[in-house]
Amino acid sequence: MSRLVVVSNRVAMPENAGGASVGGLTMALAAALQQYRGVWFGWSGETTPTFTGEPHVRETSGVTIATIDLEAQDVQEYYNGYANTVLWPLFHYRIDLTEYERAFGEGYARVNSRFAETLQRQIGPDDMIWVHDYHLIPLAQELRRRGLKNRIGFFLHIPWPACQLMTTLPHHQDLVEALFAYDLLGFQTQDWLNAFQGYVTDELGGEIHGDGSVSAFGRTVRAGAFPIGIDADSFTEIVKTPAAMKSYDRAAATNVYRDLIMGVDRIDYSKGLEERFAAYDQLLRTNPEFKERVAYLQIAQVSRSDVGAYQDIRTRLNGVAGRINAAYGTVDWTPLRYVNRAYDRDVLAGVYRAARIGLVTPLRDGMNLVAKEYVAAQNPSDPGVLVLSRFAGAARQMKTALIVNPYSREDVADAIKRGLTMSRAERIQRWEALMSGVEAEDVSAWRDAFVAALEASQSPTGMTPSRAAAQRGNLALTS
Ligand code: ADP
Ligand code: F6P
Repeated sequence: MSRLVVVSNRVAMPENAGGASVGGLTMALAAALQQYRGVWFGWSGETTPTFTGEPHVRETSGVTIATIDLEAQDVQEYYNGYANTVLWPLFHYRIDLTEYERAFGEGYARVNSRFAETLQRQIGPDDMIWVHDYHLIPLAQELRRRGLKNRIGFFLHIPWPACQLMTTLPHHQDLVEALFAYDLLGFQTQDWLNAFQGYVTDELGGEIHGDGSVSAFGRTVRAGAFPIGIDADSFTEIVKTPAAMKSYDRAAATNVYRDLIMGVDRIDYSKGLEERFAAYDQLLRTNPEFKERVAYLQIAQVSRSDVGAYQDIRTRLNGVAGRINAAYGTVDWTPLRYVNRAYDRDVLAGVYRAARIGLVTPLRDGMNLVAKEYVAAQNPSDPGVLVLSRFAGAARQMKTALIVNPYSREDVADAIKRGLTMSRAERIQRWEALMSGVEAEDVSAWRDAFVAALEASQSPTGMTPSRAAAQRGNLALTS
């Protein structure tokens, strides 16, 4: 049996899957690998004065974990720089926040080469390699250069930008060409797949075939939409644990005369937190009957704090939260509790269950797993209402949520009000439809669909990189 080798920037230890590990990718992969005889390779999150290429390898719960340390300059240029100051804002349609620097491109190419250098020594001839996310787009190209002939798939956890936005990236064609070294490309939704195909046809003059494969640069690669899910079974079990029940009791007792509205996000400008706070302000201002009858809990874990745009959003959110509490708070009512920390999954599950409204209103999001977790945690006989942005990938699947435009504070405020006043019968009806989707399209279904498609994909015959790329040397993301 061939092994599945998962590669991602961040690695979460499977034994910590129940802990306070933040990020959709890590949660999904920890769940998936526990059921697979897999290897997980990535960055340790640590720095080292000099890169050694020697991975730290250990076995845990049947999974081999191999991590490498990176140099501080790597982290600055590759993770903070190219990944999170260039690709992340661009792919989330925020070109106003994109700050391209040549050194970022160099660092990105260097780290991908370092990943490949170390990884190739871990790979057996029958292994399938599954690379995750925007940090590692050039990895297959680097592995092919080193002669690897294995099947390699790539899954993008974030949106793919519209063609006109993509062309604002210096050397965008080189980045896209690197994707053609994979055998299979996976996107979260048909929308992001369409956007990628649009780039291939409009910018590259490439072709889309009936079987979903795309051709450009003299190569053909399969591409499809594989919506990610959560480990629904384990999440519904977690809700029944003593810790989750205690957390539920605490949240319910604190809000005994009040309906709880809640959000759980990393602090990221893509999550629409400022707009969400504005919508809550709108709700209280235009519906004074809700004052002291609702409480909004926003759990917001600090994220990517070395990147300027993340420091800025954090400062602004502190200001808005303070203003809302100053404007509406009373001696015994805090309208908005804004908490900057991570919680264990069981604690989180209990609070989800206690919340009458789950607010998931990103301005742009690849999928958004919080929406699915909120649904999975509900009490079937008295469920809460999910208010979901139309710009989250999850909106494609979760059609019986209250779908909102997160840019309109009135629209979101109206949806919160509708959720707060919705009959139990309607809440149950909507939740049942959502829950059956969360269960059917869970993390195992996602993994199995991707792996089956990768197994079925043809390993490319010409393993050498295209002549154009070879002439440019290593992936030329710098000018
Ligand atoms: P992203 O991958 O962009 O962070 P997702 O909604 O897809 O967004 O995934 C976020 C994941 O991180 C979810 O599993 C969520 O439960 C978890 N998470 C987010 N914030 C916290 C927090 N403060 N404490 C614990 N887990 C969190
Ligand atoms: O889901 C998108 C993603 O960027 C993942 O790749 C990542 O693990 C998660 O968000 C959290 O981001 P970070 O790893 O930068 O903390």
